[in-house]
Amino acid sequence: MKTTNIAVFVSGNGSNLQALIDCEAGKGLSGGRIELVVSDNPGAFAVKRAEKAGIPVFVLEKKGYATREAYDKVISGRLKEAGIGLVVLAGFMRILSGWFVRSLEGRIMNIHPSLLPSFKGACGIRDAFVSGTSVTGVTVHFVTEELDSGPVILQEEVSIEKGDTLETLEEKIHKVEHRLYPEAVRLFCEGRIVVEENKVRIRD
Ligand code: GRF
Repeated sequence: MKTTNIAVFVSGNGSNLQALIDCEAGKGLSGGRIELVVSDNPGAFAVKRAEKAGIPVFVLEKKGYATREAYDKVISGRLKEAGIGLVVLAGFMRILSGWFVRSLEGRIMNIHPSLLPSFKGACGIRDAFVSGTSVTGVTVHFVTEELDSGPVILQEEVSIEKGDTLETLEEKIHKVEHRLYPEAVRLFCEGRIVVEENKVRIRD
């Protein structure tokens, strides 16, 4: 099986990183190997999770970099050293430069806690909850220069019931995320994701 070296970018809790680590250790990521974790936040719990799993961590704080591109070029160099073929954004709270996104086109994935294109932005779960909608969900998509807008790889609905609170909704969303993200990474590593005219087709 072909190996795909994966870098996971994190800033916070890292529960999606954990789901990917657990999947790799369990049923596997179809030849995908998490070779690097990148964080802009040295205090992120995600960094501890990576260390515990024995994955090299590259922490790069934004101070000292005048532009996004200057920061991203340092990360890009580190990705090249590690032979990274797939970047998985898992709660990475920095917007990537156009230069970085173009340099890895079709090789950067993100997970967003809503059914895109609804509820883009940093508060997807809360925005859906307060809107009064009865359906929200989870989207895994390729990253393009426009925020939360690239071709959708996988999407799953989560219903908002009468008794739900923001906390119970968050739990339901995260549970779906932790199943969907490893599935999308597996599909990528199997070479089954084809993008045609900005739409994803999954090969059998
Ligand atoms: C997730 O809800 C993800 O959809 C969003 O950021 C959150 C990250 O959570 N992009 P975690 O750090 O993986 O626990």
